[in-house]
Amino acid sequence: MNRKALIVGASGGIGSALYLQLRDTHRVFAISGQTQEFPDWFVSDYSENSLKEIAREIDCRFDLVFICNGFLHNESHAPEKRLSRIEPDAMHTSYERNVVIPAMVLRYFYNHFYRERPTVCALLSARVGSIGDNRTGGWYSYRCAKATLNMLVKTSATELERTYKHLTLVALHPGTTQSALSAPFLRQGSHRWVSADETAQNLERVATALDPTDTGRFYDWRGEPVEW
Ligand SMILES: NC(=O)c1ccc[n+]([C@@H]2O[C@H](COP(=O)([O-])OP(=O)(O)OC[C@H]3O[C@@H](n4cnc5c(N)ncnc54)[C@H](OP(=O)(O)O)[C@@H]3O)[C@@H](O)[C@H]2O)c1
Repeated sequence: MNRKALIVGASGGIGSALYLQLRDTHRVFAISGQTQEFPDWFVSDYSENSLKEIAREIDCRFDLVFICNGFLHNESHAPEKRLSRIEPDAMHTSYERNVVIPAMVLRYFYNHFYRERPTVCALLSARVGSIGDNRTGGWYSYRCAKATLNMLVKTSATELERTYKHLTLVALHPGTTQSALSAPFLRQGSHRWVSADETAQNLERVATALDPTDTGRFYDWRGEPVEW
């Protein structure tokens, strides 16, 4: 296949749905912490050395890139509703998976973007990372980390637009989606949510409708701009 895609975090709810969907139309490369017997599937511990080595091994450029890594909660950490619940370890984990790893992926893979034809690179953010849209507070670590991810997108898009003139680098809010990350909150029934397959369709539709004039911006799953 002529077109090539990269999915980072390809075993997650949204990442795996994107991986399976894009295989119909692209040669899809995957980076994941999980092992799979698929071609072009690279297992990583997401250390800098691992990402650097995989970037060296994958000797091609991509039409489409989705960076899907993220962290909201685990067995010992729930999203913090109050300042008094903030714990350094959980906040570090949130920054590591929501910001540092996506930043390292950009660092080692931006030279896999095309210079002479379009590449679209989407980093999965979240509407709760919007400072302007924050009306309810809470979820400190996740909100702070996604707001930082948004700044990463804006700053790297500003740098790269000078040399990668056909690049569209954006933050995307996927919408509330059934996955391990969202599961505890779907039970509370406060949001409309959709399957990861539906989200993957939405994200591909939005990403492929964007062009380089959209680079450095934040969009939701409908293609509507989200305020920073
Ligand atoms: N689900 C929602 O409602 C929703 C809403 C707004 C935004 N988002 C964002 O969408 C993205 C995908 O979320 P999801 O719903 O698919 O959640 P998920 O199923 O929990 O997936 C978690 C993601 O993080 C990666 N990951 C797991 N362990 C990791 C580690 N130790 N270090 C680095 N990365 C690790 C996974 O990739 P591998 O296991 O392949 O390594 C996977 O891509 C996240 O950025 C999330 O913040 C989701």
